Amino acid sequence: MTYVVDEKCIKCKHMDCVEVCPVDCFYEGENMLVIHPDECIDCGVCEPECPADAILSESALTNEQADMWINFNRKWAEQWPNITEARPPAPDAKEWEGVPNKLEEYFSEEPGQGD
Ligand code: SF4
Ligand code: F3S
Repeated sequence: MTYVVDEKCIKCKHMDCVEVCPVDCFYEGENMLVIHPDECIDCGVCEPECPADAILSESALTNEQADMWINFNRKWAEQWPNITEARPPAPDAKEWEGVPNKLEEYFSEEPGQGD
């Protein structure tokens, strides 16, 4: 079992999550983070830390959604740098909470800077 980051993170990228993960399994894209599902120990500590409610247990998803988001998180975790310390979010991060269709319209494949 794992937790995943979903599209609600896109352009919010608050980064509160990376500070609490005991196994440092977050990876940074240009405008969102993902969790490496093979490294996550399913502790659940990060979920309540996200102001955008972008972190979900796979057990909270349908099988189809879980497959999609686990594969998405793994794919980008293998290509983006590890991130373990939060930086300040973008000034407009709050304004992006709840915006629909983020995956289709705003997702960036570019890596973040990591640490
Ligand atoms: Fe890290 Fe635990 Fe969140 Fe998995 S559930 S990403 S191990 S804090
Ligand atoms: Fe994204 Fe939430 Fe972390 S917005 S960066 S999953 S705190």
